[in-house]
Amino acid sequence: MMNDEVLIIEESIFNNHTKRLATAMAYEIDCQCVTINEAKLLNIDGYKVVGFGSGIYFGKHHPKIIEFVNQLSVREQKSFIFSTHGNPLVSKYHDALRFALTRKGRTVIGEFDTVGFDGTGPFLIFGGGNKGRPHEGDCKRAKKFVRKLLPEYNINDMYITKLKKKNKITEGVPNFYEVDSVILVGDKVTVNHNRCVGCGTCIEKCPLSVFEISNGKSLPNRELDCTFCQICQNSCNYRAIALHGSNYDYIRVAIRHRKKLGL
Ligand SMILES: Cc1cc2nc3c(=O)[nH]c(=O)nc-3n(C[C@H](O)[C@H](O)[C@H](O)COP(=O)(O)O)c2cc1C
Repeated sequence: MMNDEVLIIEESIFNNHTKRLATAMAYEIDCQCVTINEAKLLNIDGYKVVGFGSGIYFGKHHPKIIEFVNQLSVREQKSFIFSTHGNPLVSKYHDALRFALTRKGRTVIGEFDTVGFDGTGPFLIFGGGNKGRPHEGDCKRAKKFVRKLLPEYNINDMYITKLKKKNKITEGVPNFYEVDSVILVGDKVTVNHNRCVGCGTCIEKCPLSVFEISNGKSLPNRELDCTFCQICQNSCNYRAIALHGSNYDYIRVAIRHRKKLGL
């Protein structure tokens, strides 16, 4: 079920800053994320889209990435570029990789960059620049970037957004939907039954006992209790769970639990 049309390649030699972005993006679109050495074992031409990223070292992406692209055959393929860098501005840092890709017939459909902690050269005077970067917010922006760039692979919202009208939510009884022959259960906490294998990880992990197993599949029977902590979504190996809370839900659930706790 994994997305085998997109591949993300990263080379992150300093502090794994760029790897953090790469894995966040790969998680979002459910694709494989590999290093250059691992990519050499794959047939790159077999993918529809390939993302290339690394830290910026001496004004460019890592030489391994650029050499790798230089070895590719000329063919049409979509690609995207990402990086982390110490300088506050990306400047011309992507130019060398972009040039290498376009020379090989690849179309660069998007680019993403953010700052990363830099403990080199003059930054050392201040104990390093961009401390704590890339942070959670940077990873979120990277995820947003890839979702927008490749909406067709965004499994979290792919189906639920197609639902025009949602049913009223009844306590303890999640709504079932069928979209493009995919069975979705629940409105605020949605389980994709085509993906769910009933392994029970969500039941084990959810601190609020939102889920139950019925007929070998997980049902979000108490979705109204969900605090949107995302533990279930992040621990589901089958990428079967998506959360769909609104600002209203975030407040509603706080009031609900406050009442329950008698506070
Ligand atoms: C050897 C070296 C050279 C660097 N050169 C640059 C540079 O030219 N421009 C820049 O903005 N940052 C530069 N940096 C900072 C890195 O791009 C930044 O820390 C990046 O987040 C590292 O990513 P990584 O952890 O994925 O390797 C350099 C870092 C190192 C270690």
